Amino acid sequence: MDPLEEAVQLLKKSSHTTAFTGAGVSVESGIPPFRGENGLWSRYDPIVLDIGYFYSHPASAWKVIKEIFYDYFGKAKPNPAHYALAEMEKRGQLTAIITQNIDNLHQEAGSKNVIEYHGNSQRLICPKCGATYRPEEIDLSKLPPRCKKDGEILKPDFVFFGEPIPPEAAAKATEEAQTADVFLLIGTTGEVMPASMVPQMAKQYGAKIIEINPEESAYTHSITDVYVRGKAGVIMPAIAKRLVER
Ligand code: APR
Repeated sequence: MDPLEEAVQLLKKSSHTTAFTGAGVSVESGIPPFRGENGLWSRYDPIVLDIGYFYSHPASAWKVIKEIFYDYFGKAKPNPAHYALAEMEKRGQLTAIITQNIDNLHQEAGSKNVIEYHGNSQRLICPKCGATYRPEEIDLSKLPPRCKKDGEILKPDFVFFGEPIPPEAAAKATEEAQTADVFLLIGTTGEVMPASMVPQMAKQYGAKIIEINPEESAYTHSITDVYVRGKAGVIMPAIAKRLVER
């Protein structure tokens, strides 16, 4: 059986499927991944996303953050992989998406149960009073941006290096890992902790692991049961289509 068909058969039998997505699911939306040849970390210094650096150098950190996440990523639109996952949820074929991405594209495509493991760039938060804003409500031509209520410097509501995973997201991801029949890993290297522990836990709790990625990852020869080599924007619509055939 070809791997795509094998994946479809597992998904048809599953009564609880959870997707676990990484930067690769958004590559076809024009967002570069973090790692690899054209990855973000080959062009920018990851120090700008270190929480200690952010608080000690907010203006210079914000300059780079604005360029990457608001001027550039802000214009990205969901691609066929995001839409296929949203469609599967609507049909009752997908319970949740745990995403490491902060680009909000699953939500824009219509997915409802999205667990934001690393937060969301489309929300700015005041670390002092907890007020949140959408980026378009804030004038990002004046950096660093400030809270309209107390004047504190705003922070993108995503997880910086050195910050903990939001507890609610961590708890929900654990619950998915412990209850899913199938985990669908899409476009993730499995190199970043603690996110990479979530699929490991799913495997320990008996989930079948399907992986979609044009390149092999840290998961491929460790926990993956069915490896479908290819781009998310091609494979996911093909899977979603086959799930309604026959
Ligand atoms: N479709 C599917 N997968 C793809 C595609 C595509 N079109 N193009 C690339 N990929 C794969 C790559 O082969 C790679 O395995 O996507 C993966 C991207 O890997 P990373 O850039 O490491 O992204 P990710 O695993 O999401 O990183 C995890 O690292 O820096 C942190 O917080 C950041 O959430 C991020 C975390």
